[in-house]
Amino acid sequence: MRIVIGSDHAGFALKEQIKQYLIGLGVDIHDVGVFSEASADYPDIAREAATLIAASNGSAQGILICGTGVGVSITANRVPHIRAALASDPVTARLSRDHNNANVLCMGSRIVGIELAKGIVDAFLQTPFSGDSRHQRRIDKIEE
Ligand code: RB5
Repeated sequence: MRIVIGSDHAGFALKEQIKQYLIGLGVDIHDVGVFSEASADYPDIAREAATLIAASNGSAQGILICGTGVGVSITANRVPHIRAALASDPVTARLSRDHNNANVLCMGSRIVGIELAKGIVDAFLQTPFSGDSRHQRRIDKIEE
């Protein structure tokens, strides 16, 4: 599974830390930026990442970071086939995979620190979709 990662300027430092963490775990990373703390508009990065993930036919998931995680999650969820989950705790991240088959994790750099963020990322990446029919039915309704 490839991980497409991106942030705006507010999320840059946390994005870099999460990227290094995942590289250390041997995860295949595609970083769509930003690459500095210069002011950047979160819709640009979130749209680019979400479009890549939606076109990957399930071979990629995403991690998007801005100040709160709200802006990147709103933007990513405008892209068809994207189910972006804003999580500030590992339980939400786990259930977003188990119940919602979320394919993008959004976090806020002004909300979570690096150790909590690692736990959220671990929960997201290690949890499969349950495949339960009632959850699949609800996801199908989102697609409709
Ligand atoms: C940037 O200051 C901030 O507005 C952005 O990172 C994000 O929090 C928006 O949702």
